[in-house]
Amino acid sequence: MTRLIVADTVAQVRECVKAWKKEGLTVGLVPTMGYLHEGHASLVQKAREECDKVIASVFVNPTQFGPNEDLEAYPRDFERDCALLEACGADAVFHPVPSEMYAGDFSTWVDMQGLTAGLCGKTRPTHFRGVCTVVSKLFNIVTPDRAYFGQKDAQQLAVIRRMVRDLNIDVQVVGCPIVREEDGLAKSSRNTYLSATERQAALVLSRAVAQGRTLACEGEKDAARIVAEMRRVIEAEPMARIDYVEAVDADTIEPVERLSRDTLFAMAVYIGKTRLIDNFIVRTTEA
Ligand code: PAF
Repeated sequence: MTRLIVADTVAQVRECVKAWKKEGLTVGLVPTMGYLHEGHASLVQKAREECDKVIASVFVNPTQFGPNEDLEAYPRDFERDCALLEACGADAVFHPVPSEMYAGDFSTWVDMQGLTAGLCGKTRPTHFRGVCTVVSKLFNIVTPDRAYFGQKDAQQLAVIRRMVRDLNIDVQVVGCPIVREEDGLAKSSRNTYLSATERQAALVLSRAVAQGRTLACEGEKDAARIVAEMRRVIEAEPMARIDYVEAVDADTIEPVERLSRDTLFAMAVYIGKTRLIDNFIVRTTEA
């Protein structure tokens, strides 16, 4: 096992990547906010398969949290993250402090229109500005050949693909499947917020996904009918409060009425105070 290089500064990352590129090696980036789980591990493993060198970033990005969100409470355990990254075969981790990424007079933002307005953007109006800004900074710092993101954050994945296209960023964005617990709950660092009873109640998200998927597989083409059935499943759980359940075009995030193009069924549901997301895509084109 190679020893994980820990870089705290932009200069250290640049030096490391420069040496790799001088040898003609390809570089894969796995951006994360830490408190890693098997979902992140699957991204590192995919990057390991496809790239000569793999670097992960562990940075709880303050600019993607709203004023009343869980920035302070967000779980952190860098030692454990490093152990997981090393076990998955990552070569390096970038772990900056906030001031390394955001100077006191930081004033340049990547702010996307359209795709960021719906779904999570409705309740988290500044979230994607923070995500786009930090991800473009990470792309500039690391200059990876490929970057790996989970399909669980489906809107984020669509937004990053669009940003890369719009800004001509020279990176291949790779989306990776949702990783679930044995009982179906999508892996998330925020699952640690759930009490035992909430953890049980949270299974309603994956049950709604399964129900929606079954209807689509049976040939239902009316998106509203599928959404209504998913809502019915969630509403049967007293601890669940729906933020949204919607059917949208998987690339443009525009509302879909009939399943004639790749359709993303996405939801955000509060279980107690914890906001969880889940989704599935019904593909009409080759993935
Ligand atoms: O998906 C995440 O963990 C974050 O939004 C990301 C992409 C690492 C940006 O901070």
